Amino acid sequence: MFSRSIKIAPSILAADFANFGAECRAIEAQGADWVHVDVMDGHFVPNLTFGPAMCAAIRPHIKGIMDVHLMISPVDVYLEAYASAGADVITAHVEAGPHIHRTLQAIRALGKKAGLAINPGTPVEAAAELLDMVDLVCVMTVNPGFGGQSFIEGQVPKIARLRQMIGDRPVHIEIDGGITATTAPVVARAGADVLVAGSAVFKGGSVDAADVYGKNIRAIRAAAEAAVG
Ligand code: DX5
Ligand code: ZN
Repeated sequence: MFSRSIKIAPSILAADFANFGAECRAIEAQGADWVHVDVMDGHFVPNLTFGPAMCAAIRPHIKGIMDVHLMISPVDVYLEAYASAGADVITAHVEAGPHIHRTLQAIRALGKKAGLAINPGTPVEAAAELLDMVDLVCVMTVNPGFGGQSFIEGQVPKIARLRQMIGDRPVHIEIDGGITATTAPVVARAGADVLVAGSAVFKGGSVDAADVYGKNIRAIRAAAEAAVG
């Protein structure tokens, strides 16, 4: 059932790359709502990460939502592979190709929730014609490619504008980049409900000290929830 309650989606880009299965189990046990997987191709963004085989390998270690953020171009040719790998949400960038409308149709045709991501340099109006065919809009608050970057404050008015544009449609607003217990209330107040956080969740913890993940997740959630009341 659709809900606008705050959801914390740790990005495993900040996890121990030698230990993904255990990391996914640890963050879920510590209160993560979704698991965010950042797929990068070294072309659309200047970094390389996870292929479909890796997503399929971690799928059995995730009980909840596997949220796959594709920062790849072209994207259409890989949708089926990430769907078969067990993604629940597949998000593609509006900037990744000439036919985002077709891409979103293809994601839904594969039986998956469709997400649309917009870069900091892209006006939120790019989502206007697509709001009836998406389940999620991801507003990037850093330029995609790396974890640990600073939150771009200037994106916040876009979030509020998007919230107005969405109206009562069942569309999540996800924020990705630089989310901490300090920035979470700002984006929650503007209308975000899914908060991706890499560094701020994994910082200071490990699978052997997973209580730190729990503490970090609770701090982000509490700050966001306090802002929306
Ligand atoms: C950036 C990725 C983000 C990133 C977030 O390209 O899409 O998900 O990992 O990392 P932090 O929370 O460290 O900014
Ligand atoms: Zn991401």
